[in-house]
Amino acid sequence: MRHSGRIVRQVLEAAKEAVAPGCSTMDLERVAERKIRDLGAKPAFKGYYDYPCVLCASVNNEIVHGIPSERRVLKAGDIVSLDCGVVLDGYYGDAAITVPVGDKITSELQKLLDVTRESLAQGIEAVRAGNTVGDIGAAVQKYVESNGFSVVREFVGHGIGTHLHEDPQVPNYGTPGHGPKLRDGMVLAIEPMVNMGRPGTRLLDDKWTAVTEDGSYSAHFEHCIAVTKNGPMILTE
Ligand code: CO
Repeated sequence: MRHSGRIVRQVLEAAKEAVAPGCSTMDLERVAERKIRDLGAKPAFKGYYDYPCVLCASVNNEIVHGIPSERRVLKAGDIVSLDCGVVLDGYYGDAAITVPVGDKITSELQKLLDVTRESLAQGIEAVRAGNTVGDIGAAVQKYVESNGFSVVREFVGHGIGTHLHEDPQVPNYGTPGHGPKLRDGMVLAIEPMVNMGRPGTRLLDDKWTAVTEDGSYSAHFEHCIAVTKNGPMILTE
C-alpha cells in the first residue's frame, strides 16, 4: 500500500502542476490518467459505480466528486480539489488535495485550505492503536469548528486495502472513545470536507457532484494512514 500511496501522491503532484487559469478540469483528468498509466498502476475511480473519470475535480462550492469537463475552465482566484485513487497489485491508494488557481486567492480562502489541511493532521494524530474512530472524528471536528468553519456529515472517510472502500466508515465528526477500536495493521483513508459556511450538502443533477447547500466554498484533503505500534504511518506522502 506504500507503493500505491506513493503513486497517488505523484499523480496529484502532476495534476497540481497543471492547475492554472484557463485550464479545464478535463485537462487535469488527462494529466492524471497519463501519470497513472506511466507509473504502472490502474485508476481506482473510473468505472466505480460507473464514475466516468480517474480524477475528481471539485471547484469552489463543489465539495467532492466533481466530474472533469472540458467546459469547466478554472479562473484565477478559484480553488480546486483534486481527488484520485489507484490500484497496484490489488492494493488501493486514495488521496486528495485542494489547491489555489493562480497565485492569489483571498485570505479567507487561504485560511479554509490551511484549516482543512491541519484538521487532517489533527485526525492523523489520533490514529493510535487503542484509540477509536470517534477520536479521529472528534479531533477533526474540534479543530474545524474552533476555526469557524463546518464539517460535512454526508460523506466520510473509510477503511482501504484490497477494496477502495472498506469498513469502518470514518466520519469527520464524533465523540472521543466512541466507535470501532483502532488496531495495529488497519489502514484508514481520512478525508475531511470542510465548508466555509453551513455544513449542508446537495447533489447536482449529474448525480455525482456534491455542492454546499448555501453556496459557500468547500475544501477537501485526504491521506491513507496505517495504524502501527509506532503510531500513524502516512502511506500517501
Ligand atoms: Co477516499
